[in-house]
Amino acid sequence: MKDLPFDGAITKFYRDEAPEELRQAVKDGHKKDILSDTYPYATRLDGDTYKAEMDALQIELVKLQSFVKAEGIRLCVVFEGRDASGKGGTIKRFRENLNPRVARVVALSKPSDREASQWYFQRYVQHLPSGGEIVFFDRSWYNRAVVEHVFGFCTPMERQHFFHQLPDFEDLLVNEGVHLVKLWLNVGRAEQLRRFLHRERDPLKQWKLSWIDVEGLRRWDSYSDAIRETLARSHTGLAPWTVIRSDDKRRARIAAIRRVLSSLDYTGKDVGVVASPDPAICGGPEIWD
Ligand code: ADP
Ligand code: AMP
Ligand code: MLT
Repeated sequence: MKDLPFDGAITKFYRDEAPEELRQAVKDGHKKDILSDTYPYATRLDGDTYKAEMDALQIELVKLQSFVKAEGIRLCVVFEGRDASGKGGTIKRFRENLNPRVARVVALSKPSDREASQWYFQRYVQHLPSGGEIVFFDRSWYNRAVVEHVFGFCTPMERQHFFHQLPDFEDLLVNEGVHLVKLWLNVGRAEQLRRFLHRERDPLKQWKLSWIDVEGLRRWDSYSDAIRETLARSHTGLAPWTVIRSDDKRRARIAAIRRVLSSLDYTGKDVGVVASPDPAICGGPEIWD
């Protein structure tokens, strides 16, 4: 359900329901770039630096695309993270200068009755990359671990079954030769609410809001528990997570692109440009919280 125009439910939550600490943090928002106290930077990356780094990384992505095509590589990048964590915006930057036939997005809606009767992973499998393709999953099979659990769209048994099959499923993909990168974008609570409020007021962004987002505001802690458990159970040797703190969208996008570029030795790589992602905001599950 994506109601248009949105009915002000986010503002209502902010005004009437948000814990005082959260409301205060968002209220201070107009004077502060970064709302999270624990984020390692006080201001967002300045626009000039962002643009210079992003422009150089875009050239590297085009080189990566040529390599993927030439070598018949199957590159699969999974994006996970709470609502408004920046998945869509980051994917957009990845694809900006790429060929849509090579680099596609897969953003599936809720399963149909027919899909719901299938093996849970089945509908994702058909979207995996063929040789010479890059697929960005904007949400993925991890729905069962987090949002389906938090909203009761699956039973506890179904979720256990999912966790049981998950490591084998991902190991199969990797052993089959699919190059799998899993990125978890992590946004703070006040920043998430600030972005929701902004979306609610912006006619170009209202479509991104759903009742799940509104109800999700109240379920922040359930999400946190589900995410913590998920990272612990799915950070495996063959399919590790990269967690990126995304309170600053600019730094997060740059780190995500660096992470993917670093994972392949493509022809013509400029190692000066690619470098490692910033370890202050990008690492393993220990970055999360
Ligand atoms: P998005 O984050 O893509 O804007 P939502 O926040 O509305 O979308 O929903 C989050 C996720 O939950 C989506 O992947 C959606 O497909 C999934 N979802 C929504 N309703 C159901 C449902 N009844 N059963 C399973 N998954 C659902
Ligand atoms: P925008 O994506 O620019 O429409 O911004 C959405 C919300 O996120 C606004 O409330 C901005 O204050 C905030 N915001 C914009 N850019 C950034 C950024 N680089 N890092 C963190 N927050 C941002
Ligand atoms: C979302 O949850 O809506 C995504 O993170 C998209 C975004 O914030 O760009």
